[in-house]
Amino acid sequence: MTDHDRNEPRATRRGFLAATAGLAAVAGSTLTPGAAQALDAAQGAGVEAAKTTEPFWGAHQGGIITPIQTHTYFAAFDLATDKRGAVEKLLRAWTAAAALLCAGQPVDIPGADDYEPAPDPSDLLGLSASRLTLTFGFGAGLFVKDGRDRYGLGTHRPEAFVDLPNFPGEQLAPARTGGDLSVQACADNPQVAFHAIRQLARLAYGVAQIRWVQAGFNSDYGANNTPRNLMGFKDGTGNPSTNDPKAMDAVVWAGEEAPAWMRGGSYLVIRRARIALEHWDRMKVAFQEQTFGRRKLSGAPLGADKELDPVDLDAKDADGNPVIPENSHVRLAHQASIEGSRILRRAFSYNDGANFTAERWPPWRQGMEFDAGLVFMCYQRDPRSGFIKIFEKMSRFDMMNQFVTNTGGGHFAIPGGAVEGEFIGQRLFEAST
Ligand code: HEM
Repeated sequence: MTDHDRNEPRATRRGFLAATAGLAAVAGSTLTPGAAQALDAAQGAGVEAAKTTEPFWGAHQGGIITPIQTHTYFAAFDLATDKRGAVEKLLRAWTAAAALLCAGQPVDIPGADDYEPAPDPSDLLGLSASRLTLTFGFGAGLFVKDGRDRYGLGTHRPEAFVDLPNFPGEQLAPARTGGDLSVQACADNPQVAFHAIRQLARLAYGVAQIRWVQAGFNSDYGANNTPRNLMGFKDGTGNPSTNDPKAMDAVVWAGEEAPAWMRGGSYLVIRRARIALEHWDRMKVAFQEQTFGRRKLSGAPLGADKELDPVDLDAKDADGNPVIPENSHVRLAHQASIEGSRILRRAFSYNDGANFTAERWPPWRQGMEFDAGLVFMCYQRDPRSGFIKIFEKMSRFDMMNQFVTNTGGGHFAIPGGAVEGEFIGQRLFEAST
């Protein structure tokens, strides 16, 4: 248990009832005074408690520029209804539930049709909100799926929200790819993140079902240290600063060019990137450093001393060869190589156990192999000049590709945040009536 957890107010029976009352008001689109009180209580419970909650309402959704948490649980859903009203109702319920969950409160389903569901499972009681954020996204299928515009939203699909091209080397398994809706839970506790997704899945019963999920983690290296990925390298150094609003406007947030409902939102590209760790772990450190173009221990660019030293792509060694190799990851990803393209990466590692493999072909590898790697996630203002632009070259030439295979993923339009009383995506539905 962390200090944060110890300082968090416990969820009480009273809070639970208030939360239930709040959700019952979801159909009426505003929170009841009971729910509002529960929220106030959770949000105003003192300076200590404030450390464990991240704001839910606002111009932008949480979980994008929020300081990265130690755990994520990502879920993509398929919509199983043709009724536009049912989708709207779900988003309304999800928004109200998310506000409660992010404030550390349990949620309950108001009067279900023919049975009384159990209250929010108690497994969370006693845990804090753990800086939970819930980030909702819309997949292509919300607009048009299999040629059908199920909800009358087809003409409102943003121009920037293009289908991703097929990239060389990707092995995207359909069972781990796509989805009509996405929810990313991030928290400093894996049970809190998973619990939130379970509650949202419960609220979606009969309207949307889970298509695929992916859990991930980051070690806490402290606020001023860049976390390391499973390849042992610091991951996130070259990111634009989330404390620089101008950079975030330029790189992350959809602006005037986007439809009104997308402004203040972003586009998420996610990849489940399996890393051949068995192979990587047998490479010499010098080779690993050439692969990335950075030092393993310090994170400094090759040819420099410190992690934050500039990446000098023109530097040459005594033989005239580039110090940062031509096909190193950092050279291919650096803005100077790709006409200034930038993205905000928010990656987590994943570790899904090990599988048996048997190759009857040289080099005849047999035995157990880890299914572990990176949950690569990036946010951007326009995927055409972001992920697509960067990955076009990278997917063909990156030395890192010897070790990395994308086995699933998706592309989601992340609408702007909601103000209290509104639901996530409301402006899209209003624009299309
Ligand atoms: C398993 C997959 C990946 C791993 C392990 C990985 C790892 C890394 C590492 C260690 C760095 C250097 C430190 C840093 O600046 O954060 C880096 C930089 C970067 N990566 Fe990746 N990466 C992966 C996939 C991708 C993908 C798919 C993209 C985009 C299409 C990407 C874009 C970038 C960018 C933009 C930088 C910063 C370059 C700079 O400006 O210096 N990475 N990555």
